[in-house]
Amino acid sequence: MTEDTDDLAWLPFAPQGRETLRLALRRTLLDAIRSGTLRPGVSLPASRVLARQLGLSRGVVSDVYEQLVTEGYVMSRPRLTPLVGSVPALPAPRPKPEVARSAPVYDFTPTTPDTSLFPMRRWLMAYQEAARRAPARVLDYRESLGELPLRQALADRLGRTRGVIADPAQVVIVQGTAQALDLLLRVLESRGRSTVCVEDPSFPTQRERIRAHGLEVVAQPVDGQGVVVEGLDCDAVIVTPAHQFPTGSVLSGPRRRELVDWATRTDGLLIEDDYDSEFRYDREPVRALQGLRPDRVAYLGTVSKTLAPALRLGWVVVPDWLVDELRQAKRLADDFTPALDQLALERLIASGEYDRQLKRARQVYRRRRDVLVDALHQAAPQLRIEGIAAGVHLVVALPDPVDDAAIAAEAKEAGIALDPLSRFQIHTRRSGLVLGYGRLHESVIPAAVQALSRILARHLA
Ligand SMILES: Cc1ncc(COP(=O)(O)O)c(C=O)c1O
Repeated sequence: MTEDTDDLAWLPFAPQGRETLRLALRRTLLDAIRSGTLRPGVSLPASRVLARQLGLSRGVVSDVYEQLVTEGYVMSRPRLTPLVGSVPALPAPRPKPEVARSAPVYDFTPTTPDTSLFPMRRWLMAYQEAARRAPARVLDYRESLGELPLRQALADRLGRTRGVIADPAQVVIVQGTAQALDLLLRVLESRGRSTVCVEDPSFPTQRERIRAHGLEVVAQPVDGQGVVVEGLDCDAVIVTPAHQFPTGSVLSGPRRRELVDWATRTDGLLIEDDYDSEFRYDREPVRALQGLRPDRVAYLGTVSKTLAPALRLGWVVVPDWLVDELRQAKRLADDFTPALDQLALERLIASGEYDRQLKRARQVYRRRRDVLVDALHQAAPQLRIEGIAAGVHLVVALPDPVDDAAIAAEAKEAGIALDPLSRFQIHTRRSGLVLGYGRLHESVIPAAVQALSRILARHLA
């Protein structure tokens, strides 16, 4: 590897005390090499060039280069400028734990889709088309709410597929649900609101975000009908009505009405996290909660499950009265979401490719779910499996004294990645395993379940 640098005029070259020019230059170059500023493989300027830059004679620079070559800090090359040698400048950095950790053999991580299904060729075509059609101003600073064509496409699509009532003026493009939540929390904070209810169990990162904003987390239990509304006491509540995360229950009709009544009565904000509703297999579609009371709901959507988390593309549909504050929050956070990515997504939607991709992915996930449910039934017929009608994960309920965290820890040792239900709980205590099937090809699911059932057998005995 060689990198070119022909300019070392910035070198802090200043002889100290009675130091000779040669000694001063050697010290200066060595400091830069040892500190890692001049990295191994970087080419140094020709002696003539460096001499001119530092106001030295060429002989001084050549002598110092020669000495550094002898000492191994620099490598000379016939007819080329010298290179910084591969002498470790600083103690070698310790490998980060993420890097050192080996990948699981069987990955039941419940929050991730199969990124190998990402339609890269179609995405690139959509991106290319978006870039070709875009006037130069698209590369300038952009409107914080997002690109209008995408906001229009989403308003249409969300109305058609989720029963969301949205005008493009109320759609804000964000970098994933993560940012949507962050912006809403900023708004709540600046309105002097202090408490946010979350479902118990729910996604732990949500709680971290709430606390990071100095707001208080209030846990609200979940049962087979979704979040329990009775006793709800906070300024806003984050809910996953279509497919509760992680239990998989669907928010029932009566609970939806109770929730909306609660928000109306208390001036509360409902934050609807519709993170995986596109993957529905064998149940009737349930309309988004937003459709019931658009003036009380902030509706959050993402491509993290449908395309890939790394795109960091999501949207929020907010009531009229929240648009300006959300736009301001977005502007302060990062000005706007990368414009060409937004326009590429618009092209993918407009061409029908987004829907076709969903159809393909739905078939794949459905097959995996079926194989997983069958394998689990065979391996542990006594265990109840929940939340299978939608999404890319399910829950295996365990009898209560069973320590799900211990099972997850043993599974990890055996190369099986999965989450215990307790990881998502706050006060509630129910033992269970949350198994994602996004990342496991159906051909390996039976072996994965076999391996898991050996661990389960020890705990269920
Ligand atoms: C409950 C829930 N909401 C949202 C998301 C997606 O978040 P993002 O859009 O920031 O990738 C996930 C991903 O796992 C999730 O589990």
